[in-house]
Amino acid sequence: MLEQANQKIKEKELDNRFQVRHADLKGDLSKIQLDNASVVTMCWTMQFIRPLRRDNLIKWIYNSLVEEGAFIVAEKVLTKDTCMNRFFIDFYYDYKRRNGYKDLEIMRKREALENVLIPFRFDENIEMFKRNGFEIADTFFQYYNFSAFLCLKKTT
Ligand SMILES: C[S@@+](CC[C@H](N)C(=O)[O-])C[C@H]1O[C@@H](n2cnc3c(N)ncnc32)[C@H](O)[C@@H]1O
Repeated sequence: MLEQANQKIKEKELDNRFQVRHADLKGDLSKIQLDNASVVTMCWTMQFIRPLRRDNLIKWIYNSLVEEGAFIVAEKVLTKDTCMNRFFIDFYYDYKRRNGYKDLEIMRKREALENVLIPFRFDENIEMFKRNGFEIADTFFQYYNFSAFLCLKKTT
């Protein structure tokens, strides 16, 4: 994936602006360079980090941002209502079927992700962003149980 990313960056002649690096977000974050960031994006990735390690990760991102920097996160989420969670899952599987996935493929993917992808509720995510520094945190997008959050560092 990294090789392909590098190739695409080169094709678009953006290699003087982007650098692709491999890092483990559940490991020692002090070994990963992230300073003075204006914007950090994390799409569909935090859900794979063990819940106990997420606070540390968010705090590290907050500390790495400049004043008024933004953190944009996309995540699979749970709602408070179990019935609604069930609806969203069914709608999503229908969407996959409409796009050519077979039931067996859908079932295998579900099994592969069990206990690996651990979604939080909306409110749990917002609370986590705030308790780790973000002064402003809210959702700006939702499609079924997929949501995106915008968090801002605004100390003044
Ligand atoms: C669903 S994919 C999303 C990929 C990409 N962000 C996108 O939006 O297309 C989840 C990504 O999380 C990454 N990931 C999972 N655990 C990770 C970890 N501990 N450290 C770094 N990345 C991790 C995987 O390598 C994978 O690329």
